[in-house]
Amino acid sequence: MKLVKHLANLGYGSRKEVAAMIRNGRFTDEAGHEIDEDADIAHGALRFDGERLDPDASAVVMMHKPLGVTCSTKDPGRIVYDILPMRWRFRKPPVSPIGRLDRDTSGLLLFTADGAFLHRVISPKSNVPKVYEVTLARPLEGHEKDLFAAGTMMLESETKPLLPAELEVTGEKTARLTLHEGRYHQVRRMFAATGNHVEALHRAQIGLLTLGDLPEGEWRELTAEEIGRVILA
Ligand code: URA
Repeated sequence: MKLVKHLANLGYGSRKEVAAMIRNGRFTDEAGHEIDEDADIAHGALRFDGERLDPDASAVVMMHKPLGVTCSTKDPGRIVYDILPMRWRFRKPPVSPIGRLDRDTSGLLLFTADGAFLHRVISPKSNVPKVYEVTLARPLEGHEKDLFAAGTMMLESETKPLLPAELEVTGEKTARLTLHEGRYHQVRRMFAATGNHVEALHRAQIGLLTLGDLPEGEWRELTAEEIGRVILA
């Protein structure tokens, strides 16, 4: 792909604006030398105002989503795209969240512009486990583990039973729940069906990938090894 188009697709500006930025020396090679529009230079060797470029279209990034932020592009309140660089809103192909978290759920959220990877992660065939830390309003009753593991549980207004899910009780009102699918408000609805109420919800893990020490409200690109930890099969 032509350099100007590549940089415009990354959201740095329109093709005209990017061409002007190249002429003005804002895009350079690694050594800081000015380049021209026809330069054949690898993504990783380009610099913008001396900084490495944003991740390319094959990248996967993880975000530690804070509470109170929605996964939509249209919500009038704070949205996850407010946390990512502004120019990412103009990227082609667009960077999308891989699955969603509710406004009132914190934790691990992945983004990519790689549609094939996105579909592999969310496809039930890939069976990617997602681990949630749950805090409940009322003490667990003891029957929840077997109920969730049965593979017969039906949520209101649904026609297909839930896949078996694993519940590990970590306290009187706290548990770790591992799901193998992602239905709308699934964790909250599962506990509501037992007569309880989820007070706090945090996604701690997708596949074998965890947030590590990534602070809340921050994001970073995954390494190839970390991407490999998302899809196990
Ligand atoms: N289940 C929920 O209820 N909410 C989420 O954000 C994720 C899973």
